[in-house]
Amino acid sequence: MSQQLDVEFVSLSDDLEPTAVVIGAEAKDALALSDTADAFNSKSSNAISRAARAADFTGKAKSWIELLAPSKLKCQRLIVVGAGPADNAKTTDWVLLGGAIAGRVTARKTKSASVVADVVETGGKKAEDIAADLALGLQLRCYSFEKYKTDAGPKSKKESGNAKDSKTAKALERIVIHCDNPKKTAKAYEDRRAIANGVTLARDLVNEPANTLGPVEFANIAKDLEKSGLEVEILDDEALEELGMGALLSVGLGSAKPSRVAVMQWNGAKSKRTKPIAFVGKGVVFDTGGISIKPAAGMEGMKGDMGGAACVTGLMRTLAERKANVNAVGLIGLVENMPDGKATRPGDIVTSMSKQTIEVLNTDAEGRLVLADVLWYTQQRFKPKLVIDLATLTGAIMIALGKDFAGLFANDDRLASNLLDASKKTDEKLWRMPLDASFDKMIKGSTGDIKNLGGRWGGACTAAAFIKRFIDDTPWAHIDLAGTAMDASSTDINRSWGSGWGVRLLDRFVADHHEK
Ligand code: BES
Ligand code: MN
Ligand code: ZN
Repeated sequence: MSQQLDVEFVSLSDDLEPTAVVIGAEAKDALALSDTADAFNSKSSNAISRAARAADFTGKAKSWIELLAPSKLKCQRLIVVGAGPADNAKTTDWVLLGGAIAGRVTARKTKSASVVADVVETGGKKAEDIAADLALGLQLRCYSFEKYKTDAGPKSKKESGNAKDSKTAKALERIVIHCDNPKKTAKAYEDRRAIANGVTLARDLVNEPANTLGPVEFANIAKDLEKSGLEVEILDDEALEELGMGALLSVGLGSAKPSRVAVMQWNGAKSKRTKPIAFVGKGVVFDTGGISIKPAAGMEGMKGDMGGAACVTGLMRTLAERKANVNAVGLIGLVENMPDGKATRPGDIVTSMSKQTIEVLNTDAEGRLVLADVLWYTQQRFKPKLVIDLATLTGAIMIALGKDFAGLFANDDRLASNLLDASKKTDEKLWRMPLDASFDKMIKGSTGDIKNLGGRWGGACTAAAFIKRFIDDTPWAHIDLAGTAMDASSTDINRSWGSGWGVRLLDRFVADHHEK
């Protein structure tokens, strides 16, 4: 996994690192300082308040000023970051503020920095939770995928100004959080650390190219999560054949790489017998489109067509590492969609595990074939309380919702509203889309039961209608994250191509609605 930031918690009176950050709240158009920051201010002959006045800095959220070599303070650089009016700040606001702080600090090319998190209980949140949320934001913002950056090659590479190709020389490595109760805060950070680890794993998986991350390699990474306490089974191509997963297997026929399904189980509820909640992910390690091949421009992005599977895998890691009080299963369908003499052709009819036959009119509408079988298997085997699938399923969802929203389809209003609630709390945006009989008509087959193509209109909705054909009475939600899992807009807590979108959302959903 990518290098993570070291986060340490020390007391407010500990010495500051050469670069230090203090947080100022905004109170009626004026900067409000915490006790500790106030003490720094007095000690340095009001350097902070004088600088704030000179710069018209009032502590608006994410605004900042920088004081160099403030007299009588031990740091060389003091950054004051505004938190806005802190009383009604939510958890995410603190996480996002942590990210913004990391952005300011990394702009200064320093290896380690202090963040003075002398925060008081506010908005019903404990001080240690606020400090731990800030630390999560710092951790998430500092992620970068550096694995393939080297210092190799001729010396002239560096001299010619190409040195920036190599590993970021002075990336932030360590953050020291100064807080009121370091022990309690470090404890509160444990759950956040599990979230950061899940998001980091999901980002790494999405960023990894398909020559090094095929179905087998992905399955091995899932298997490795046994270290975190998950039970993991890998179904190989023979096992999938035996189960009758003809839809999923038809997608991988053109690939030299065999298909896999990984089954990850976390039994954290008091009784092992409680029915689990289930998460299913589309894991197309690369989507060329198959025989219905995609245009060349931008095809490289299809290494991220396993964003749903990455999210499920990251989430399962988080649940295990924070020992969530829930029974959950995560199943991912891992295939590669390639054109070849053995590949599925347009017009082929395949038989799914549910025995419904599918006319493959376009081999580029492959994700729904994978989900069809994995969803069917999940319901048959686990009889879950509910199932949520995640898939980079359609370009159409981006046409409908843009790059910051994922589309939510659900056959159950309570499930939808719980997901929307978690979405609000984590700022991972969801928008509910329709499931309707009018879309069902559009995917009726002519020679088979259904076809994998709905025609020109409502592409994300006909894809969801297709998946619905493989859901029995189980409460089900489908999340189309084609726009948000990869090449996402940059935010205060993410600058990576593979965003790890959905891990925080689903972790919140589990914590708030299924761990009681
Ligand atoms: N993986 C793609 C969807 C996608 C496109 C994800 C762009 C992320 C970025 C999916 O398999 C696909 O090719 N969908 C087709 C469906 C069509 C053939 C019905 C699409 O959206 O064009
Ligand atoms: Mn496709
Ligand atoms: Zn795809």
